[in-house]
Amino acid sequence: MAGRVSLPPGLLDEWELTADGEPWTGFHASVVPVTTADGEPAALKVGLHDNEHLALQHWHGRGAVRLLRADPGRGLLLLERLPGPDLADHWDVEACEVVAGLYRDLHRPAVPQLRRLSSYAGEVAAALVDLSRDVPLPPRLVQQAGLLAARFAADPATDGTLVHTDLHYGNVLAAHRAPWLAIDPKPLSGDPHYEVAPLLWNRYDELSGRVRDGLRARFHAAVDAGGLDEHRARDWVVVRAMDLARQRLADPPGTPRRTPTPALLTMCVSIAKAVQD
Ligand SMILES: Nc1ncnc2c1ncn2[C@@H]1O[C@H](COP(=O)(O)OP(=O)(O)OP(=O)(O)O)[C@@H](O)[C@H]1O
Ligand SMILES: [Mg+2]
Repeated sequence: MAGRVSLPPGLLDEWELTADGEPWTGFHASVVPVTTADGEPAALKVGLHDNEHLALQHWHGRGAVRLLRADPGRGLLLLERLPGPDLADHWDVEACEVVAGLYRDLHRPAVPQLRRLSSYAGEVAAALVDLSRDVPLPPRLVQQAGLLAARFAADPATDGTLVHTDLHYGNVLAAHRAPWLAIDPKPLSGDPHYEVAPLLWNRYDELSGRVRDGLRARFHAAVDAGGLDEHRARDWVVVRAMDLARQRLADPPGTPRRTPTPALLTMCVSIAKAVQD
């Protein structure tokens, strides 16, 4: 019940909400099903938001869940409640087509308050150059990703489009007013080609025994359905895969993790290789 999630005292009364079922606890946030004063099913998200409200406001419900109310200072979002399910049990290649089919609605001119992807790419380039040659990653891939990141950092096309950046199978829910809608953006002012990588590293374990072909099928499904340039999408996958690996290597020892570090590094290398073989 809502009682197990720590809601600000008095919030339900303040926003005229009634708790309506068990909360979902995501990796970063908790989401409490509620009913509004009008009797509408809604979802109250409590936790960190990475400017989530700015993206949701900008989308106005096109391609994404509708934002009903936000208090970013207190980390609170009231969302339209979607019936689901998500895409976790969908055939993965078709799921990639579904997700990439949302790009057209989501990839609008960015709002100025968002962080620019070029500035992040510059940070990634510097971090990859600084990565010790002793880490268990192929030096050639680390160097390649660093050079690509530096090139993206200097490329005007890297900024300007609102991108979700965490568009994976669990962040797309079935809906009534559209077949599928995105939730949980971590938005940047960026490049649509940045969007593909989470489709490769999520549900990775399912590809056991056919990793390369499975990754390539997902990648091409997303590129084709999203109308993306294959080379630019591939370069971002290489950068994001090596960025994910170096972030893990920078974690303090003992950080609780779903995937052990050796398995995660192997996955990142497989992804960066599969898209360029
Ligand atoms: N508007 C909504 N309608 C219905 N269910 C929702 C809604 N928003 C979130 N959920 C449910 O709550 C879960 C967690 O929400 P969300 O993905 O926004 O948070 P998160 O903690 O940031 O997730 P993640 O684990 O991806 O980091 C979702 O996976 C989904 O099951
Ligand atoms: Mg999520």
